Amino acid sequence: MFITRWIIFVLLKHFPLNVTGSHHDPRVTLTGEDVHVRRYSLNCSNRRIELLPGFPQNNSVYVGGHGKLWYLNFNRRNQSKKATFPALERKRSDRKPTAPGNYDVTTLHRVDATRLFVCGSNGNQPKCCLMTLDMVCIEDISPSGIAPFNVTERAPSLYIDNDVYAAVSREAKQNSVAIRRIGNKTHMWPEIAKQEQRYISMAFSGPREDQLQDKVYTFLVQESSDNHPEASAWNSWVTQVCKADMGGPKTMLQKSWTSRLSARLSCGIHDRKEYFNQLLDVAVLQADNWTQSRVYGLFRNGWGMTAICIYTMGDIDHVFKNSDFEGFTGAVPNPRPGEQCVKDSTKLPQKVLSHVKEYPNMRDWVWPVGRGGPLMVSHHDYKGIRADRVRGPGHKHYNVLLLSLDNGRIHKVLEHDAGVFIIAELQPFSTRTRIQNMLLQHSTKKLYVSSSSEVVEVDLSGCQSYGSLCVDCVQARDPYCSWSRTHCTATSRKGIQDVEHGNVSVCGQDGGSVPKPSGKKVEILPLASNHYLHCPMSSSHAEYSWRHGGQARECVPANGSCLLLINSMTSEEDGVYTCVASEGGYTRTLAEYRLQAESKARGLTPPSLALACLLLLLLIR
Ligand SMILES: *[C@@H]1O[C@H](CO)[C@@H](O)[C@H](O)[C@H]1NC(C)=O
Ligand SMILES: *[C@@H]1O[C@H](CO)[C@@H](O)[C@H](O)[C@H]1NC(C)=O
Ligand SMILES: *[C@@H]1O[C@H](CO)[C@@H](O)[C@H](O)[C@H]1NC(C)=O
Ligand SMILES: *[C@@H]1O[C@H](CO)[C@@H](O)[C@H](O)[C@H]1NC(C)=O
Ligand SMILES: *[C@@H]1O[C@H](CO)[C@@H](O)[C@H](O)[C@H]1NC(C)=O
Ligand SMILES: *[C@@H]1O[C@H](CO)[C@@H](O)[C@H](O)[C@H]1NC(C)=O
Ligand SMILES: *[C@@H]1O[C@H](CO)[C@@H](O)[C@H](O)[C@H]1NC(C)=O
Ligand SMILES: *[C@@H]1O[C@H](CO)[C@@H](O)[C@H](O)[C@H]1NC(C)=O
Repeated sequence: MFITRWIIFVLLKHFPLNVTGSHHDPRVTLTGEDVHVRRYSLNCSNRRIELLPGFPQNNSVYVGGHGKLWYLNFNRRNQSKKATFPALERKRSDRKPTAPGNYDVTTLHRVDATRLFVCGSNGNQPKCCLMTLDMVCIEDISPSGIAPFNVTERAPSLYIDNDVYAAVSREAKQNSVAIRRIGNKTHMWPEIAKQEQRYISMAFSGPREDQLQDKVYTFLVQESSDNHPEASAWNSWVTQVCKADMGGPKTMLQKSWTSRLSARLSCGIHDRKEYFNQLLDVAVLQADNWTQSRVYGLFRNGWGMTAICIYTMGDIDHVFKNSDFEGFTGAVPNPRPGEQCVKDSTKLPQKVLSHVKEYPNMRDWVWPVGRGGPLMVSHHDYKGIRADRVRGPGHKHYNVLLLSLDNGRIHKVLEHDAGVFIIAELQPFSTRTRIQNMLLQHSTKKLYVSSSSEVVEVDLSGCQSYGSLCVDCVQARDPYCSWSRTHCTATSRKGIQDVEHGNVSVCGQDGGSVPKPSGKKVEILPLASNHYLHCPMSSSHAEYSWRHGGQARECVPANGSCLLLINSMTSEEDGVYTCVASEGGYTRTLAEYRLQAESKARGLTPPSLALACLLLLLLIR
């Protein structure tokens, strides 16, 4: 016992773990034990997980996986359901059911209050189905052009007004992808692009004042046509199509988009020539006025750095309505291609159609809001992004981002005027795992995160974990949380909080009072013995230090603690030791110890034991 303590001591003394906090790192780390997490085991390993909100009232989600669909009700577990996808079929010839097991659900949408739209693939023959909310197939739908063959294909899709918009490969072979539409309106079946394209996400751009003008935006990366050796392999684009588009007449662009225009997305620090060209994921925060809806793009560069750039739908629309067309110098035909959506696109003038066909790309790029650069640049290898708009105390709204890492962790990030503040790292899974998908339920402030075999529900307003004092709550700067005068809890109108600055002066004199430090009792230690004192380090943004007899003492960070090491106890080391943390100009005492050296040394202490061993070794030689 004593010896192991001594070994730890020596190791720490000579190889201190350097974990000086940086503000690019999460302020605190919260495990599944700290935050309110509910788990649901899927009891099998899934290559792909699709998530769809169920009923917010009863905290439920629909989950698509390998040969299965689940309805998970986190409030009443016994009401959860499981169904096979596709349902067992009997072949007429052999009357044996075909094995359903090798289908992976790839597409999952809500049609209306009573039906779901589900597609899945077995790598060969996809299937789509309209289902009841009890997950019974009521109508087969042709999967052609809207359901992927390959389960690894991202295949973004949208379900709007009885139409499915999807960007998927038409065949099992790669690179037969295009934006297609099937459903109630004219089916759209455009030609395949020449360059390789990977579709990332789709979003509805509306509702606009005149709903005829509603559009669908698709975000994609495209193989770079730039042969310059330093150019990156992928470029990021946004494409618009009109919802009302019915394609051209028989002679031109029949069943192809007559309103399809594309623009490059800019994300980079231009004076430093740092560009983030590859879009990885997109989150959209819809606003009441569609022009203010925000598109959060998560990008990466060739060196594994990630960046987030924000675009408004209004800015994207502006580029499509005003930019010159790439490679075109003549007079732009009237009506300007793609500017107005029309009731009957088959009647558009030939000149307009051929312009859309020949010059679909805009010369101007879409620039991020604010200073025209990224909201944040990070060395973290983020994979996915979700965004939420949170009403903080005093009715002010804040945007919060949830960024997934490939080790199963999630960063909760506050967006504010001056940039970002990384509130916390959430560790919802008990082991390192790959996050397959995330779903944010705005109305209940729940985040659903899935690994290949588990779905966990994280309560984003689980605030107790920040601590039991007002200062803990305020320094957390979490807009989901505020101080209720007794504890840190989900934001209320009258709650105490300072999301902008985390300035603890809002706590008043009581709230800011010093907590009871641990260990008031005097500890008697043997003379010449070594010893170490613990101080909890919960915030990576704070500076920790020890004080003794009016002097600062070195803090050795280890295992989430700031340790004070005493080599050899003497009466000079007697007295009070306090550990203080300083953050945002506020200093508080976290721990206090009283040590006293025993008047006489007793027996051999480890350092002298070591000395004896060393002497012995020297003598033998
Ligand atoms: C998964 O397994 C656990 C324990 O093995 C069991 O309690 C649970 O009911 C199973 N869940 C499903 C959906 O089969
Ligand atoms: C969930 O909530 C919906 C809507 O309130 C309700 O109709 C349904 O019965 C609830 N229970 C289950 C099992 O989903
Ligand atoms: C489901 O569980 C609830 C308690 O969580 C219980 O009241 C209810 O009777 C159960 N229903 C069934 C059908 O087992
Ligand atoms: C599916 O796509 C992946 C990645 O693009 C590829 O490696 C794999 O061979 C494809 N599978 C099939 C069955 O085509
Ligand atoms: C189908 O489209 C027609 C017009 O093309 C429209 O009147 C009708 O409401 C649509 N039906 C549905 C269910 O959206
Ligand atoms: C939406 O915002 C734009 C630009 O700020 C403004 O011109 C437009 O009138 C707004 N629309 C509505 C319906 O408020
Ligand atoms: C590290 O800290 C945890 C929790 O504070 C504790 O349970 C564990 O024993 C510590 N490990 C070491 C090596 O001190
Ligand atoms: C905190 O707020 C108080 C009162 O508004 C102000 O005097 C103080 O300078 C602020 N502290 C910091 C670190 O900004």
